[in-house]
Amino acid sequence: SVYPTKEVASVQVAERIANLIRRKQRAGQQAVLGLATGATPVGVYEELVRLHREEGLSFRNVVTFNLDEYFPMPPTAPQSYVTFMNENLFDHIDIKRENIHIPDGTLAAEEVAAFCLNYEQQIEEYGGLDLQVLGIGRTGHVGFNEPGSAPNCGTRLVTLDDLTRRDAARDFGGKENVPTKAITMGIGTIFKAREIILMAWSGKKASIIKKAVEGEVSGEVPATYLQLAENVEFVLDEDAASEL
Ligand code: GLP
Repeated sequence: SVYPTKEVASVQVAERIANLIRRKQRAGQQAVLGLATGATPVGVYEELVRLHREEGLSFRNVVTFNLDEYFPMPPTAPQSYVTFMNENLFDHIDIKRENIHIPDGTLAAEEVAAFCLNYEQQIEEYGGLDLQVLGIGRTGHVGFNEPGSAPNCGTRLVTLDDLTRRDAARDFGGKENVPTKAITMGIGTIFKAREIILMAWSGKKASIIKKAVEGEVSGEVPATYLQLAENVEFVLDEDAASEL
């Protein structure tokens, strides 16, 4: 769907998440959400916080799994995705801390593989992701699944693309300070979600959105794999959709 502005689009996405949460509440079940970081979902999280404060939306039955985290990365660092999620969402809602899952940037190298396997298993134990929200990087990455990612890959340690590190340079005060690696859910992990929403705003995303939606399906642009998913929706503002 294409909306006139990112603000309108973000409210729509937040409303869908809220409806899922309420539906699960009525059924006495947990809502299992896959969450993303970056500038793109900020408006969605703002609206969810507003729904919590002003309309009593509760997150007591919500379980979250974030897509990714830089590696290495202490959770308390300002650039960590833990800090991002706390500041933009978790500190402002009534989610139970034990229901929050974010890949651990503090592991020793030899602990990473077991952690990643366990992350996948935990998602399965909760019955799988009901809804995964995604942004898109200019390399066509979703999560941190950079060009070269296989369609069935799972949660794992990856090396970041140079363009991704350049795009992150501002947050870190220079590209040289951006970690070279990250732990990310895989394309295969994302595909198992019952619903996937990929959001993109602004003309800066227009050319990668054109490739993702209309380009040949290829590991060179991992977001093209989403063309093969049935349950995926691209939510765009007019500028991001301008080359379609
Ligand atoms: C990072 C995140 C991605 C995100 C991308 C786009 O690389 N790991 O999940 O989609 O940035 O960021 P932004 O939303 O700021 O454009």
